[in-house]
Amino acid sequence: MQLLDGRKIADELLETLKNEVIELQDKQIYPKLAVILVGDNPASLSYIKQKRKACEKTGIRWEQINYDESITTKELISKIEELNKDKTIHGILVQLPLPQDIYAPEIIKAIDPKKDVDGFTAYNIGKMFLSTEFEHLPPCTPAGVIKMLDYYNINIEGLEATVVGASNIVGKPLSVMLLNRGATVTTCHIKTKDLKAHTLNADLICVAVGKRNLITEDMVKDNVILVDIGVNRKEDGKLCGDADFETISKKASYITPVPGGVGPMTVACLMENTVNAAGRANA
Ligand code: GUN
Repeated sequence: MQLLDGRKIADELLETLKNEVIELQDKQIYPKLAVILVGDNPASLSYIKQKRKACEKTGIRWEQINYDESITTKELISKIEELNKDKTIHGILVQLPLPQDIYAPEIIKAIDPKKDVDGFTAYNIGKMFLSTEFEHLPPCTPAGVIKMLDYYNINIEGLEATVVGASNIVGKPLSVMLLNRGATVTTCHIKTKDLKAHTLNADLICVAVGKRNLITEDMVKDNVILVDIGVNRKEDGKLCGDADFETISKKASYITPVPGGVGPMTVACLMENTVNAAGRANA
């Protein structure tokens, strides 16, 4: 069994990006990310801290805009429009989830696709849908998963891939990215009747649900490649994924740890998108 070491790959990518930032700076371009946080969701605060640290490591400038939960959709959109016009800002990220009264798709729609470093807008999702050559600002978690498989020379073509979870930010776009690389993709979700039948058939399982022990050893075949995108907390406060790592790691050919797997890859891909957005800003 080989661990898919996201921490190591992410650190290497951040090192490369640091040099790209220096090259941009030589051309008087100073990559800058604007992050909007509404409220004080503890998970969001933790994610933002990691993104900020990665910006510091790579030399990307950081601007954080904090709002109280009472902010209106109109006020939020007006701030995004201001950031869209600001030539010193290359990436705009609105941390999700947003409060119940704010309709997230309407907020995401306001972001200029050229600055949409999360890859959440219809424009960037649509480009990714077309083919791998149009993945200019792909969603960060799916992009991180693909990068990780590529790093370990895992050939996606022809694999039976089962994606568990069909969210707009992970499961759906990851399914498309795997499909574009020649996998035979099954996407499972809350209405799936027999999850085990689909996971047992899979050479590659990517799970992004947020439910501890959802995938157990009896649900996977020998030599499975398991990518765990879930983030859960155990009783002792420690992080864990959606799969039973202890037992599945004995059966798998490759497996991601949680933490230290997909999480750092997501953040590194956000940095890559920001550097790319800055490089393309005047193109
Ligand atoms: N909330 C959970 N994951 C993400 C993400 O990748 N981007 C944003 N903006 N919010 C999130």
